[in-house]
This record gives sequence, structure tokens and C-alpha cells, in this order.
Amino acid sequence: MKDIYILGIESSCDETAASVVKNGRVVLSNVINTQIDIHKLYGGVVPEIASRNHILNISEVVKLAIKEANIDLNKIDAVACTYGPGLVGALLVGLSYGKALSYALNVPLIGTNHIEGHIAANYITYQELKPPFLCVMMSGGNTQIIYIKDYTEFEVLGRTKDDAVGEAFDKVARIMELGYPGGPKIDELGKNGKPSIELPKTHMENLDFSFSGIKTAVINLHHKNPNINKEDLCKSFEKTVAEILVENTQKAINKTGINTIVLAGGVSANSYIRNEFLKLNNAKVYMPDLKLCTDNAAMIASAGYYDFVAGKISDLTLNAEPDLKL
Ligand code: KG4
Repeated sequence: MKDIYILGIESSCDETAASVVKNGRVVLSNVINTQIDIHKLYGGVVPEIASRNHILNISEVVKLAIKEANIDLNKIDAVACTYGPGLVGALLVGLSYGKALSYALNVPLIGTNHIEGHIAANYITYQELKPPFLCVMMSGGNTQIIYIKDYTEFEVLGRTKDDAVGEAFDKVARIMELGYPGGPKIDELGKNGKPSIELPKTHMENLDFSFSGIKTAVINLHHKNPNINKEDLCKSFEKTVAEILVENTQKAINKTGINTIVLAGGVSANSYIRNEFLKLNNAKVYMPDLKLCTDNAAMIASAGYYDFVAGKISDLTLNAEPDLKL
């Protein structure tokens, strides 16, 4: 069979990224220009600034991805672009660039769902991984348990009713003045802490999640006692969040009988949470390579490949969808 080369483009938040992936699994280049240093001055992503920086960066990032892949542009079979969910202005930059490129190269455009991209990060990390499996999606904007029936067929079994787990990490870190993005800072501090502080868990009847209770509890504790041991608070927060995620995953395993578990999204980079998932009984757990947990375009190219082979091609009227669901 002929090899298929997909150029992926990602610009949904504060990373401008491009990548060339062969046959959905082999990464030939993965270029990421992150704006973290710009946004950390404001304590979080400023959408307008993100859009403007994507415009400044996109052309060079795509050129570099082509150069590092050592491939002629004419060998690209399709251009896969994130079209949602994300910040609308940021999405529009990558999508417009991708549309222009697909038109100029006369190759298909594939509008790719960012959440599908996070799942596909695992296809790159584990060449043998195939659906069906359960995915625990834990990112800055989403927290869900998804039944992956096939490469392009999904059923959401449960989702957060309030904050996404990454959002809770970032808000807690902000109150503790740890800086942005908060997740990695909590991860680092928590390594030296003790899980000695009792925090609440909101129990849901079904497979949904809730993280606002624990977030508010940490914020209140910190307000009442600014000298509280930050390392212990970080570790206690991680421990409780991990329990919520793992207990819900166990419920999903019991309900579906599927025991192949795949983690995805930025919070799946958390060292404590990764370790707790490995303790799940009777389950085979996969987690993305650390550099593929957070936003990148290799995962978009991989997800785009599976849309391409399934014939899910977009046209040039495709628009950005900030609230796109699976
Ligand atoms: O998946 P992602 O890159 O963005 C979305 O698509 O939403 O996730 C970003 C989130 C941020 O909330 C960030 O704080 C969190 O992932 N994160 C972490 C870690 N690394 C990134 N959270 C906990 N521990 C980490 N090591």
C-alpha cells in the first residue's frame, strides 16, 4: 500500500504547531512554538495575544515542519487542521493557513477535532494500540470518559459538570501564586509533599465528574491559612484528583467490561496521576509519551490520517468551532 503523509496544523490555544506524520503513526517532524513565556506575564492565556502570535509564527512553523521531515511539499497527501474546540481567533489562524495550503497544493483538507487529536497521541506512542478502548481525557478544557469504538467512532460516557481537571490545576496554582501553567508547578511541588490534608470529593451517580468542590476547598484553605505548607497542599490536591479520576475509570470498566484504558490530554503528564493509574487492577493502561500529552500537531496529523482513510474530508467552507464536541 502507498504511504500516506499528512501535514498537521494545531493552533487552538497558545501553541503554534505543525507536523508531518506517515501512515498515522510515524512522526517525521513535530515543531511546536509555545507562547507560554508571553502569557505567563498575565497569569493565563490572553486570547487576542494568542491569535496575533499565531499569525506571526504559523508560516515559519509549517516551513520548519516540512524541512525537518525532509519531504517535498508535493508529497503531502492531505492537510489536517484543528478546527475546534479552542479559542476562536486562535483556531482561525491555523485553519485559514491550512485551507490556503490545501487549495494551493490541491490536496484534501481535513478538519480535525482537537479532542480526537489528544486520543491519537497514543497511536504514535504505542504502535500496537487499536480500538476499542476507554479513554480518560484530562486536559485544560475537557475532562471526559470516552468509549473509542473505532478510530473515528466515539461515545462519551461521562464528562465534567463544571471545571475541567486542567482548569482546576491552573486555578489552584494561580491562587497559590505558583505561576502559569499551574499543572507542571503543582506536579513539581507535590513531589516533596505529604498527602496529609483532607479534601472533598463530589460523588456523581453516573460517570460524570465534578472538580469545582475540590478547587474551591483548596482556594478557601489557602485564603484562611496563607502559610499552609504548599507542598502538602499540592500533594493532597493531586491525590484527591487522582482518586476521582481512577474511581470513575474503575466504574467505567465495571459498566462496559472494557479494560484497556488510555489516558490523554495535558494532565496525563502529571507524574502522580500516571503512577496511580498504573495501580488499576485488571486493566492495561496506556499513557502518551510526555512530550505528546500537551498540545502538538503530530497528534492532529495522526487523527487526521484516520479521518482521511475513513473518507471524512472537509471543504473550504469549514469554519472554526470553539465549542466543538466529540
Ligand atoms: O491538553 P492541554 O495541553 O490543553 C488542552 O487541550 O486543553 O492541557 C493543558 C493543561 C493545563 O491545564 C496544564 O496545567 C495541564 O494540562 N498540565 C498538567 C501537567 N502538565 C500540563 N497538569 C498536571 N500535571 C502536569 N504535569
